[in-house]
Amino acid sequence: MVIVVTGGTSGIGNAICNYLFSKGNRVYSLARRDFSDGNIVYLKCDITKKQEIINCFTEIYEKEKCIDVVINNAGMGISGALEYHSELELDKIINVNLKGTIMISQIAIPYLRESKGKIINIGSVAGELAIPFQTMYSVTKAGVHAFSAALQNELRPFGIKVVCLMPGDTKTSFTANREKNETNSFYGSRIEKSITKMEKDERNGTDPLKVAKVVYKVIKSKNPKTMIAIGANYKMFVFIKKILPIKFVQYVLYKIYG
Ligand SMILES: NC(=O)c1ccc[n+]([C@@H]2O[C@H](COP(=O)([O-])OP(=O)(O)OC[C@H]3O[C@@H](n4cnc5c(N)ncnc54)[C@H](OP(=O)(O)O)[C@@H]3O)[C@@H](O)[C@H]2O)c1
Repeated sequence: MVIVVTGGTSGIGNAICNYLFSKGNRVYSLARRDFSDGNIVYLKCDITKKQEIINCFTEIYEKEKCIDVVINNAGMGISGALEYHSELELDKIINVNLKGTIMISQIAIPYLRESKGKIINIGSVAGELAIPFQTMYSVTKAGVHAFSAALQNELRPFGIKVVCLMPGDTKTSFTANREKNETNSFYGSRIEKSITKMEKDERNGTDPLKVAKVVYKVIKSKNPKTMIAIGANYKMFVFIKKILPIKFVQYVLYKIYG
């Protein structure tokens, strides 16, 4: 199969690229950095720039004559109190995590209609259980979840499957790459405590290979679920959130991250 992965230069995306390559696929990564490891074709692409995406898809299709799977993985985090986020920060995280995923999908659809292929979006448990001081991250991931569910039904008659995977804490450079807005007049030690907790959990998090293996299962599956949390504990958190009163869920999240 011919598989396109955004953000294959690091973390989860890199694990996905290498695992899918090891299973005999031809894998292309779209990311901004120059990168090379011999197995994967790393194309330079900023997913917030539509023309760069179009150029990459044209190049891949001209070479391969088909595109079977597109994995929207590229993403970033910004932490801090929402009231201090600049417009630039808001635009940046929305453009990468949400608009980038949407634009890649728009451009991929004609190719996937031909191959009856799949779009796999990397969401996050933080899109289901919204985390204070990572508000914009949670907002963009909740957007990715809604986007995946709506698009799944939009594309169903074409035989294109859309799946959203929701990893929890995963050990990658995401933690070090997270942009921090440290402006703080009214929040005391709350922001620092919250960030310290989330960073500790990420550093002790799951191996990105686990996410790559779920991606592979989804690619092999004829009829995958639309929304899949990764790991037994995160499956349970997402399930519990649905059955418990929202007031209780919000209180627990406040106690942990607020
Ligand atoms: N780590 C976690 O705990 C966790 C948990 C749940 C979900 N996720 C999600 O998993 C995905 C991968 O994150 P990760 O943990 O692997 O983080 P990471 O190690 O920081 O990797 C992020 C990747 O995204 C790419 N990227 C960022 N901005 C881009 C842009 N404008 N255009 C193209 N590529 C861009 C980066 O490549 P370049 O810098 O080369 O452009 C890099 O390859 C993200 O969507 C993240 O939200 C992560």
